[in-house]
Amino acid sequence: MSIKTIIVQPGGGFDHVVVGSTEPRQAGPGEVTVRLHASSLNYHDYAVVSGAWGPTAPRIPMSDGAGVVTAVGEGVTGLKVGDHVVSLFFPEWADGEPGINEGSFARVPGDGIDGYAREQVTAAASAFTLAPKGYSHAEAATLTCAGLTAWRALMADDTLKPGDTVLVQGTGGVSIFALQFAKLAGATVIATSSSDAKLERLKALGADHLINYREDPHWGQTVRTLTDDRGVDHVVEVGGPGTLEQSMVACRIGGHVSIIGILTGLQGSLSVIQAIARHQRLQGVLVGSRKHQLDMIRAVEANGMKPVIDSSYPLEGIVDAFRHQESNRHFGKICLEF
Ligand SMILES: NC(=O)c1ccc[n+]([C@@H]2O[C@H](COP(=O)([O-])OP(=O)(O)OC[C@H]3O[C@@H](n4cnc5c(N)ncnc54)[C@H](OP(=O)(O)O)[C@@H]3O)[C@@H](O)[C@H]2O)c1
Repeated sequence: MSIKTIIVQPGGGFDHVVVGSTEPRQAGPGEVTVRLHASSLNYHDYAVVSGAWGPTAPRIPMSDGAGVVTAVGEGVTGLKVGDHVVSLFFPEWADGEPGINEGSFARVPGDGIDGYAREQVTAAASAFTLAPKGYSHAEAATLTCAGLTAWRALMADDTLKPGDTVLVQGTGGVSIFALQFAKLAGATVIATSSSDAKLERLKALGADHLINYREDPHWGQTVRTLTDDRGVDHVVEVGGPGTLEQSMVACRIGGHVSIIGILTGLQGSLSVIQAIARHQRLQGVLVGSRKHQLDMIRAVEANGMKPVIDSSYPLEGIVDAFRHQESNRHFGKICLEF
């Protein structure tokens, strides 16, 4: 039996994605075999597949993977055949401060090592956690990168409290998770989008205040006005250089800005005076640890929270799925189901 597998050829690019196969391997000591059923798309996966940061060797893409354990190797504890599992973004980061392998993409599945765009994988048991009870495989697969990043930003790097105010930007996977976690914690949410139709959907998810960032280029000041000039406690910053200055305007004195995304690019010119004058805490975020993932899963199980899935594609439809992501028409997560 061979395993249907997506392979991105060196350099990447949508024309260099092939549907191939890999050979199964028995689970060795400390390993599990997982029949994978779903993945979800993230911007870093897009970079690998589209060729923006294409691989130097043939690479199986996708950091997010969810499925069912079909075999366990010697010495594995905590997982058994039949368990529903979800992958970890940093398989080697258990807890505490990130180490050297969590400072780069070198050990991230789908980036520096092979990922989960395949029907089966045999890997270290420690590369997975149990999926939330009641989650479909696609729902579970949304947690590895986008869900965990939003969780860590709000619940681990800072400690969200009921009554806090959170600013989320746009309607991508990370931002919608951040909105949902913020509402779970009893926070007020100010949400932005370039689309009035999407703003209505954010409202239905519980957003308290809505701003169209395309129509209101000074949205940072609008956030200040909405908060009686205090500013928000937390900004989930996914735009990067093109949005950071307005995020600082929007943030309160001593508030927390999670530097997460690069939707407006990697470089730009901006003033940092707001951050200094307002004693703000700007913190880089790169997903999270096993401990963060376990905490997040406990929270979503306790509250019955489900991710927002925009659409699903078959494994062979991976390029169509990324073209859909590229169009920015999506709302929440785009998944692969197989
Ligand atoms: N550091 C980390 O650990 C980490 C983890 C995951 C993702 N990220 C990064 O976070 C960013 C978002 O990731 P994602 O997976 O959520 O992306 P995504 O699902 O592709 O998000 C796309 C959405 O972002 C919004 N957007 C685009 N430009 C914007 C702007 N200038 N201002 C505000 N919103 C804007 C748009 O929303 P509207 O259509 O509503 O305008 C767009 O639909 C990416 O840069 C990604 O690389 C970082």
